[in-house]
Parts: sequence; structure tokens; C-alpha cells
Amino acid sequence: MRVLAIYGSLHKEGNTARMMDAALSEFPENAEIQRIYLGDLNYSGCGPCNECEVTGYCVIKDDMQQVYKAMLWAEVILFGSPSQFSDVSVEIKKFMERTCWMKGTLKNKIGGSVISGHRYIENTMNTLHAFMLHHRMILGGSGALGFTFTKMGNIDRDPLAIKDSHSTGKRLVELYEFIYSSEY
Ligand SMILES: Cc1cc2nc3c(=O)[nH]c(=O)nc-3n(C[C@H](O)[C@H](O)[C@H](O)COP(=O)(O)O)c2cc1C
Repeated sequence: MRVLAIYGSLHKEGNTARMMDAALSEFPENAEIQRIYLGDLNYSGCGPCNECEVTGYCVIKDDMQQVYKAMLWAEVILFGSPSQFSDVSVEIKKFMERTCWMKGTLKNKIGGSVISGHRYIENTMNTLHAFMLHHRMILGGSGALGFTFTKMGNIDRDPLAIKDSHSTGKRLVELYEFIYSSEY
């Protein structure tokens, strides 16, 4: 099982990362897990230069090239984003734009998501779901919402944040087994 975890917050040990790690802890020991922290990477949004319309591939030479490689490699992709201005983080938004050229290449990959924030956070989830559906991915679970209660709060007071993250991880594993195992 090849799993890619895309961390969309600048905080490597923040609320979203804690939820991501909880979800990932549900994967079996033999799962290959690749973690990408978008905050570590240097990349832009889409120009658009429209070169991909001709080449079929994104020609911008920056750190997104390694993300593309990882996405093509993965069978399961887990996304995590803090809610910022009622939507995904700018790191996730730029990343999304840059996948424009990937039409069809992510089809039937299993996708899941975790979100943290305290207000209008469902909208952030909707953006991630729309992204996965746009790429014809298979949605694994409804996603985990971690509630921080205050602007700079944390998810400790939300009993469902970590619990739902575990459920998201479990559902992704279940779906993977359903699709790839001959038992069904
Ligand atoms: C620029 C900025 C905008 C934010 N906007 C929102 C928002 O619209 N809604 C919300 O619920 N939280 C908002 N927050 C709070 C973060 O989403 C919240 O603290 C989140 O849990 C941080 O996650 P992290 O620790 O993974 O970075 C915002 C934070 C920042 C820095």
C-alpha cells in the first residue's frame, strides 16, 4: 500500500499535523508512507503558461516536480489543511492549481482529508472534496474536522478531532482493501 500524506500547514507539529499523524497511525506496518510538508517546498501557483496543453506535463522547474512524482506513485493520498479565511491554506491552494495538468492521472486513487479550525471550516473540507472529485479520485470517508474553539486555539478540547482522524485513516485502509483485495 503506497500512501502519500500532504501536510498543508506551515506548522509541522500543529493541529493539522497532529490529525494527519493520527490518521496515518491506522495504516498497516507494511504500508509505505511518504510525507510531504508543503511548507518546506519552494513552488508557485499556476501561471498559467499553458505549456502543459502542448507538452502534457507541467514544465515549471520547482519543488512541485517531486510532489507530482509522489502523487503518481501513491495509491492513497491524505490531505491536511488548516482553515484559513474559510478555505484551504495558501500552500494547498497553490498546490491544487499546479495539478491542472494531471487530468486523468489521479483517477481512482483513494483520497482522504483532515481539517482544523474554528469557523466555517466545512467550506475548507468542500474545497478539498471538490479537488479530489475533479481529479476523479475516490473519496475515502467524509473527512475529519478538528475544532480549535478560538482563533489560535488547539484541538485538545475537541474530543472528535483525533478520534475522527483515526476513523478517516481506518476508512482509507478499509477502502484500499475493498478495492485491491480479492476477498471481496
Ligand atoms: C491567516 C490565517 C487565517 C485563518 N483563518 C481562519 C478561518 O477563516 N477559520 C478558522 O476556523 N480558522 C482560521 N485560522 C485559524 C487556523 O485555521 C487554526 O488555528 C488551525 O488549527 C491552525 O492549524 P495548524 O496548527 O495546523 O497550522 C486562520 C489562521 C491563519 C494564520
